[in-house]
Amino acid sequence: MQKITEADYLRFLAQQKVVLVGGSEIRLRGPQRPRKLQPEEFKTETTTLWSFPKRGKWATHKASYRGNWAPQIARNIILRYSQPGDTVLDQMAGGGTTLVECKLTGRNGIGVDVNRDAVMLAMDNLNFSGTLEEPLPETDIRLYHGDARNLDLIRDGTIDLIATHPPYANIIKYTSRDNGSANGDLSKVRDIAAFVAQMRLVAGECYRVLKPDHYCAILVGDTRRSKHYTTIAFRVMQAFLEAGFILKEDIIKAQWNTQTEGLWANLSRNKNFLLIMHEHLFVFRKPATDEKLRPYAESMRWWEQIRSP
Ligand SMILES: C[S@@+](CC[C@H](N)C(=O)[O-])C[C@H]1O[C@@H](n2cnc3c(N)ncnc32)[C@H](O)[C@@H]1O
Repeated sequence: MQKITEADYLRFLAQQKVVLVGGSEIRLRGPQRPRKLQPEEFKTETTTLWSFPKRGKWATHKASYRGNWAPQIARNIILRYSQPGDTVLDQMAGGGTTLVECKLTGRNGIGVDVNRDAVMLAMDNLNFSGTLEEPLPETDIRLYHGDARNLDLIRDGTIDLIATHPPYANIIKYTSRDNGSANGDLSKVRDIAAFVAQMRLVAGECYRVLKPDHYCAILVGDTRRSKHYTTIAFRVMQAFLEAGFILKEDIIKAQWNTQTEGLWANLSRNKNFLLIMHEHLFVFRKPATDEKLRPYAESMRWWEQIRSP
């Protein structure tokens, strides 16, 4: 991991007005004065089905980072599973949606991304301040260029909440071949078994850095190959259970911004397959130190016998 400082960001901004992520050019905006910092209509979710037909546009949030998660997802996770002053980690931070929500809700944030351009964009999205009408709580948000499989600058058991969103194998490719700063980008891995093997390393790091009895939320989607359903999510879930986590929730997140009419809808009818319109938001809990695990046997590695009392 390498820390990206405010000075690094300002130098980058002075030289470059756009970043290239996922094949799209995204303009850096510099210091921003959003019209509204906090959402006007927001309620915390209470069921395992989350659906946000309109993605939130408060503060600096924008849909321009391909496949970024809606701010409503990050905010719901943060409000339910952390307290003001806690430290939240997003080690696949992309355009920084989670970190912007940390800044707005009074959590400290650590963001990591393998793509240096994404880190610069996240810093750009964090380049706003509170106002007299909407003051912001004190927070410390740190950004790193690094790899989720090796969080070497984060000490064991120091993170209060993990909220992260990996690529779904190679469905969206986040870096182009010429972007040498993104070695280790998991969106380049097409083979599902190879992708899951890498996610096993991510899960191990999540387990290591998280405090006992704290939560780790991860959003993952599936794909279709040869017209058949190909699960990525359940295999990633299994990797997290193998790391030692307990499954707390499996939330189905409805997808809204994909095409349900036109070419894909016709293909679905003619070729007999259904368009995938959901993702899984898994919430895992790291057991407390010396916690008796037998009550959770069915929510843990059920394929292994739990022998502790
Ligand atoms: C789905 S995007 C995250 C979007 C983010 N939730 C947002 O709202 O902007 C996945 C991110 O994982 C990053 N990534 C891929 N491989 C990585 C790795 N080994 N370590 C850290 N980040 C990685 C990609 O660069 C990409 O930004």
